[in-house]
Amino acid sequence: MIRSIVRQSPKFTGKEEVIVVPLFKGETRLLSSAKKLDALCRSAVSDTLKDNHFKADAGETLLLRLSVPKGPAHVLLLGLGPRKEFDYEQSADAGGAASKLLKRHRFSSAHILFHDAIENIVDEYLHSFIKGFSLAQYSFAIKAKKSKPNTVRKLVFMTDAKNATDTIRHCKVVVEYIEKVRDLVNQPANKMTPARMAEEASSLAKEAGVTCRILKPKDIAKLGMGAVIDVGRGSHHEQRFIEMHYNKGKSKLPKVCLVGKAVTFDSGGISIKPWSNMNEMKGDMAGGAVVACSIAAAAKLKLPVEIVGLIPCVENLLDGLSFRPGDIITTYSGKTIEILSTDAEGRVILADALAYAGEFSPDVIIDYATLTGAVVVALGTRIAGIMGNSQSNMDLLLRAGEQSGEPVWQLPLDRRFSEMVKGDISDYKNYSGRDGASITAAALLGEFVDGTPWVHVDIAGTFWSERGSVPYHSKGATGYGVDLTLRYLERVAAGS
Ligand code: BES
Ligand code: ZN
Ligand code: ZN
Repeated sequence: MIRSIVRQSPKFTGKEEVIVVPLFKGETRLLSSAKKLDALCRSAVSDTLKDNHFKADAGETLLLRLSVPKGPAHVLLLGLGPRKEFDYEQSADAGGAASKLLKRHRFSSAHILFHDAIENIVDEYLHSFIKGFSLAQYSFAIKAKKSKPNTVRKLVFMTDAKNATDTIRHCKVVVEYIEKVRDLVNQPANKMTPARMAEEASSLAKEAGVTCRILKPKDIAKLGMGAVIDVGRGSHHEQRFIEMHYNKGKSKLPKVCLVGKAVTFDSGGISIKPWSNMNEMKGDMAGGAVVACSIAAAAKLKLPVEIVGLIPCVENLLDGLSFRPGDIITTYSGKTIEILSTDAEGRVILADALAYAGEFSPDVIIDYATLTGAVVVALGTRIAGIMGNSQSNMDLLLRAGEQSGEPVWQLPLDRRFSEMVKGDISDYKNYSGRDGASITAAALLGEFVDGTPWVHVDIAGTFWSERGSVPYHSKGATGYGVDLTLRYLERVAAGS
């Protein structure tokens, strides 16, 4: 973990372990402070650039070892690609690429030189750069021998842009909570039970000054949340329902309700999944983790919005008491759902949570769920699918997605799909075939929001990285969703 991130005017002492010099492709003429650095390094940088060893393609890195009296020990050239293609995602990727290389070579500190050529992008892209750099240092393991991984512990941003200090402060909070989501999602299901999830949410809330109420099975049943109870029946680990509230009662603020699917392990239940990659289903609580961590982060950043967080939390296992295909479940709203596949459990527990959200009369509901395999087929692993009944909120999310480097893409949701989720002997059914499967899942959710503006974010493709091939990812949880949500909430607060 990076302990210290600071801003400093570009001045060289010769004690720097490594100075990272980001460069755009085709703009490798060194100016001002980069030129000074080059002079200190006896033209090592400009000579390398002349030799064409370094093209500044996006993510390209070249580490130079120097031996000059007043210069740094190393210079790392970092390619940003063509300026006109540069965006927030690329900026995070570039930060991640530099960071991973420095980690691999056991550097403990780094100076990043935001010299003139890229100074004008500092304001806009510094946040994503720091985010990418910091997250690339993340690792998770549960091993007998607790070896401390080599990490960069100190980062210095050499720039005269004064507001970089605020950006750094903001970004530290964002990174802290993205890493928290990764920790929660990476924890295996023998440790991350619904009860543990509730404890984690409580302590996150306490630390951030957010109220938190945990409902146990008796309370959940008493409220009439038949879906949460029935889906969780097959596990010895009891259901929990987590309710968080930030800026409670501040009636002048926009009120956002965040709902997150938290299935601590999804075996598929009686409709059991095939074994391959089933381990990833320990992360089927990622939606809940995003909600809990985003609320805590919003509180730390003092965002002027009221937020209600609702997290239905169960484990989907096989047992003599498990819910079965053919069961008809009565949800919180009184509406019934026939179970055709016990593997389509997320939408069932969310039906309870979304209807319960109505009790708080929010201005908007956003739900996060690792809901469907189909969204991975449609959009891959870097873009989440959004569907909903509120175009204005989807537009805000689309823009927040670009800005956070956590993009979303809207899929169509209309009456045609709502027709497909109607039941024969119940109000609804929980599976409507393979066609448009992400959308029919969303359509079922839409039946429970009772006209409240609502957007569903399907994060089944983005919550997990199988190979860690994105520069700032490591194998396992990505923490996708926190930055997106914070950017969205900022826009809700600003009314645009
Ligand atoms: N948790 C899964 C969806 C999922 C798939 C998340 C891949 C992350 C990666 C969900 O509960 C599920 O099993 N969905 C099924 C539903 C189907 C049986 C109707 C799916 O999408 O395959
Ligand atoms: Zn499932
Ligand atoms: Zn699931």
